[in-house]
Amino acid sequence: MTAEWIRWPANVVARFGGEPLAFGGDYNPEQWDESVWREDVRLMREAGVNLVTVGVFAWSTLQPAPGRWNFGWLDRVLDLLHANDIAVDLATATASPPPWLTTRHPEVLPVDRHGRTMSQGGRQAWSPSSRVFREHSLALVEKLAARYGEHPALALWHVSNELGGHNSRCYGEASAVAFQAWLRERYQDSLDDLNAAWTTAAWSQTYSAWEEIQPPRLTFTDSNPTQMLDFDRFSSDQLREQLRAEIAVLRRITPDVPITTNMVLFDAGKNMDYSSWAADLDLIASDHYLRPTPDAHVELSFSADRARGLSKGDPWLLMETATGATSWRSVNPAKSPGQLRRDVFSHVARGADGICFFQWRAARAGAERFHSAMLPHAGAGSRKFREVAALGADLRSCAGVLGARVVADCALLFSEESWWAAERESHPHNGLSYAESALGWYRSLWKAGVTVDVVPPSADLSGYRLIVVPMLYLVSDRDAAAVAAAADAGATVIVTYFSGIVDPLDRVRLGGYPGAFRELLGVRVEEFAPMTEADSVEIDGVTGPARVSTWHEEIDLTDAVAAARYVGGDFAGAPAITRAARGAGEAWYVGVELDAGARARLLEAIAQRGPEGELEIVTRRSAGDEYVFLINHGDTETTVPGTGTDLLDGSVHEGKITVPAGGVRVVASAR
Ligand code: GLA
Repeated sequence: MTAEWIRWPANVVARFGGEPLAFGGDYNPEQWDESVWREDVRLMREAGVNLVTVGVFAWSTLQPAPGRWNFGWLDRVLDLLHANDIAVDLATATASPPPWLTTRHPEVLPVDRHGRTMSQGGRQAWSPSSRVFREHSLALVEKLAARYGEHPALALWHVSNELGGHNSRCYGEASAVAFQAWLRERYQDSLDDLNAAWTTAAWSQTYSAWEEIQPPRLTFTDSNPTQMLDFDRFSSDQLREQLRAEIAVLRRITPDVPITTNMVLFDAGKNMDYSSWAADLDLIASDHYLRPTPDAHVELSFSADRARGLSKGDPWLLMETATGATSWRSVNPAKSPGQLRRDVFSHVARGADGICFFQWRAARAGAERFHSAMLPHAGAGSRKFREVAALGADLRSCAGVLGARVVADCALLFSEESWWAAERESHPHNGLSYAESALGWYRSLWKAGVTVDVVPPSADLSGYRLIVVPMLYLVSDRDAAAVAAAADAGATVIVTYFSGIVDPLDRVRLGGYPGAFRELLGVRVEEFAPMTEADSVEIDGVTGPARVSTWHEEIDLTDAVAAARYVGGDFAGAPAITRAARGAGEAWYVGVELDAGARARLLEAIAQRGPEGELEIVTRRSAGDEYVFLINHGDTETTVPGTGTDLLDGSVHEGKITVPAGGVRVVASAR
């Protein structure tokens, strides 16, 4: 991934007095009469927009029939944007195939696990394994790259859109054939190795020919877990192959234009193994939409920290978010006063060097006609548009932040592969949520004022003082060893229950739980004891008195010491939380599901506490400057120690910084 993340046209740099934080959004002019476009760019300039994404869903407009192309409108759009000092993130427009393609080639259409073929008429109606789709999509990419590769407005390529957002899993015939080929390569053409890896002797599933192997389509009972896991891996790889194929065309024709694709990092986006895609991209771009739940700003922070983790700490781009309500949730609340500004600055605080929205102008028709936008249905005289323009001004005042890296000394390990495997059926407790477990620990760290890098288990863990490993059910020997090495080197490691249980083939590690972490943690568990909703049990010790539910287990100490014990229940007196000194560090094991209060007390006990409550404080550092972001999500004014100048209002703070309720400050100081 290169550091130079957008090729800003000279006129845009000149207009903004240097490379700006990106500010803009999806722009779909093909959905409007050309007479609207001039008002668009006028208002974009008024709002301080400097980057727009064009053409995401434009395939059927660009290619109205096989062999017939219609680029004139796009020529005019790019010229108009450039003439108004607005750079373009040009989409490859392959996200949704035109009806003529899926009518002539219905085999392009994806098939769900039930064998139902998805129809044209929504979007992403294509199978990632379709060769026909691949051929037609690349023909489009070739045309766009050849025609616009030298356009002065072109700053960035935007491959497809949310690859896999809807079509991540296809169970059709094309996918079956591709899956068999993928498996042959993965198992070096050895059917014996595949049968062993999948333990197909269970339930009489042994394959005698590759052609017998199908995607894990609908079954009466639980499907083979390793077959499902390999199908998840295959499906993510198929999407990555589409990404790589489009990138190859773009690199060949426009080698100097950076390339990205927008990742689905809201609600922790599950279906793609993004850490295996990141190296193909010049820039990590994330989509995030606020949950309609309390503490939604904490999930936003998690998503932002995950984007930074995928970017290995480099700046990243928030490609899409909403200025207000979405339109795809069952209820789509508006944002509360000040929420948009807090959300945006939480992303910037956590490494976003650009903030873009879905979309510029609110649609009048189509499935997203009630989705919020930068320019709402009410027009430019609206409070929302004034808020958006004010945001543009705020971001312009923070341009110095560009490229500064977030300061974090805590890592939370997050693995899509383990997520796929941990939330399967046929588990000791089939109500566990990996994402919510990870988010729960993240939330406790957030409220303790700890800035967290959310990173894959394969990340470099050296330098972290705290490493949290929430429910890492599937882990490789290598990654487990890296966690142990970090503890030896001085880190405090916290591993939770149902971690280290299986190997990368979803086969249980024998000899006692928690398998891959047994030696590191100095414990051994012989039997899981998940709890029904009616069950709970008291523990006491490092957390103080606490009632735990959902999960507990009887922990035998090998060389760990008890840090909390069960007060009652079947395991009265036995350890529930343990600590083991390891080299210069230590390894904690949490064999129970703690509530937020108990987690907070545990973190306090291991000296991880920071300012409590709802003041979010994140620091970004460049070579010469430090930027402290203070975002007050609470309803009371808060004062903390600090010195510097607030880039947002110019106020100077000597020794203390007061942040009004719901307010934001970005306090800069020389290092
Ligand atoms: C996703 C898609 C956009 C749009 C938004 C709506 O991010 O990429 O095309 O549908 O959701 O929130």
